[in-house]
Amino acid sequence: MRTIWYEETLIAMIRIEIDGQAVDVERDTTILQAARQLAIDIPALCHHAAVKPYSACRICTVEVIRRGRSQLTASCSYPIREEIQVLTNSERVIHARRVLMELLLAQCPESKDIRDLAHRLGVENTRFRTRGEGSNCILCGLCVRVCRDVIGVSAISFVNRGWKREVKTPFDAPSEVCIACRACAHVCPTGAIQAEDISGNRMLSFWQTSRELQACASCGRPFAPGAEVQHLTRGRDDLRESLGICPQCRRTETGGRLERWTTSAQSRAIKDHGTP
Ligand code: SF4
Ligand code: FES
Repeated sequence: MRTIWYEETLIAMIRIEIDGQAVDVERDTTILQAARQLAIDIPALCHHAAVKPYSACRICTVEVIRRGRSQLTASCSYPIREEIQVLTNSERVIHARRVLMELLLAQCPESKDIRDLAHRLGVENTRFRTRGEGSNCILCGLCVRVCRDVIGVSAISFVNRGWKREVKTPFDAPSEVCIACRACAHVCPTGAIQAEDISGNRMLSFWQTSRELQACASCGRPFAPGAEVQHLTRGRDDLRESLGICPQCRRTETGGRLERWTTSAQSRAIKDHGTP
């Protein structure tokens, strides 16, 4: 194994080996990213490309052999800085993932996504005390990080410790700052957060929060929470018009513009050359 300098780009590439396959990666690429380059499947629950790794679920555990020593580590947060060998499916890895999976099953025994992943990893039951019925949350923190770091709202956060740890709005009350954009629901790996548009309101029952939907400036149908549109267009006059109409009307308008443009381009061609 060696470090290669690509002269044209002056980027140091590090050659590593994953499950016997060599791959050259840039410094600080994570093992999970490198494995994906090789189409090697590593299960991951709390990882999302939009936010920094947090290593909450540890289900992406792999075995890293570095300078002759082996260690188990979370692949989503391990930055590659030297030549290493990685095993994604060794006996140690499989054993560790199964124990982790049992812990997740104990946390969310009813979650279909967790049960499906457990089944994939050969785990059907858990030896650990289950948390009982109710939440499908595995406390991965993705919703908290996306709301804070990507949307810039911080409507939710972790509260309490140990078995009582949960994701909540401040004082467990309907959020005053949530814009009901649904980013939390989109990234949640277990579907614990549901968002529904009912009677002109977007409801996020997990946070006991609802926001009124704004009417489309073109067709008049309610389509997005007014709070979300305001948040997205704050200081962006150029976006106000296009975000004030629903996606369907936006598509119709774009289609109309394109048709008008094609028709006038054809007329110009006929005028200039006699053919479209
Ligand atoms: S609600 Fe979903 S995204 Fe948020 S911490 Fe729980 S499992 Fe993760
Ligand atoms: S995906 Fe790596 S720790 Fe959760």
